[in-house]
Amino acid sequence: MATVLGTTQLHLDQANRLSEAGHTLDFHDGDGPIDRRELLARVSEAEALICLLTDRVDEEVLSAGRGLRIVANIAVGYENVDVEVARRLGIVVTNTPDVLTEATADLTFALLLAAARRIAEADRAVRDGRFPPWSLDQPLLGVDVHGATLGIVGMGRIGYAVARRGRLGFGMRVLYHNRTRNKVAEQEVAAECVPFDRLLAESDFVCVHVPQTEETRHLFDAGAFARMKPTAILVNAARGSVVDEAALADALEARTIAGAGLDVYENEPTVHPKLLELTERVVLAPHLGSATRETRHKMVELAVDNVLAVLAGDPPITPVN
Ligand code: DGY
Repeated sequence: MATVLGTTQLHLDQANRLSEAGHTLDFHDGDGPIDRRELLARVSEAEALICLLTDRVDEEVLSAGRGLRIVANIAVGYENVDVEVARRLGIVVTNTPDVLTEATADLTFALLLAAARRIAEADRAVRDGRFPPWSLDQPLLGVDVHGATLGIVGMGRIGYAVARRGRLGFGMRVLYHNRTRNKVAEQEVAAECVPFDRLLAESDFVCVHVPQTEETRHLFDAGAFARMKPTAILVNAARGSVVDEAALADALEARTIAGAGLDVYENEPTVHPKLLELTERVVLAPHLGSATRETRHKMVELAVDNVLAVLAGDPPITPVN
């Protein structure tokens, strides 16, 4: 039977599945992330590593894990794991797709609505005793979401879930830009595949749903913002590196675009100081995409499914390499 190293405590029922299968659990129990030296020491005894997006699982860690058979990342993204090195060392890497799609789409839409209807500003005004009088031109006027044009950059699982919300819930026109056509989205939500520049030029809301790669780094830069509508709102619940944060702050300040709803940042947990100062139509969340009780439980369950499968000599359920 094997030792399973967890860089975090898991839900009890899921930890029990591992111990009931006869595996030894070695879960990090302290406040905050596991210390790097500790990770390197403990991984050398483990056959499975269950880790978080915030754990850097690079060549050093993978090589230290001499008996490692699987790295189960509790996230759909896996840029924190050196997948190529893992492949070379014969270590399976798995992620947790699908189970977080709907929760992440919900959060994306929450940010979109919050920025469009200025919910964070409104909340602060009410709490600060600045309840604005009802008037035709009151200071917290927002913009319509229903019937507006929604631009989805990256029409994968989460992009499509956002498109469904926009089309079926809010009667939005959906444009998308993706490497490949998404015929289901075209049929089900009348999504129109358009070049990136056209999406930027025509969308009232631009939602980012591409993974972090070299290719997508700073896809949204000063040039992209200049091509967006001055009334447009950018929503990013994908990865911070896709947006040049300094350029975004400049674009918001100069009113090149109107607003932003952000859940992810280039250097989490640090947020560009200029973004922190921008409050009008700017809503900031601390990487909450998958952060619901039910979804986090499903993510852990899938990570454990993967570990149990690989340790039993079966194929992983959701491999990435
Ligand atoms: C993921 O799974 O990649 C999310 O960003 C985690 O919340």
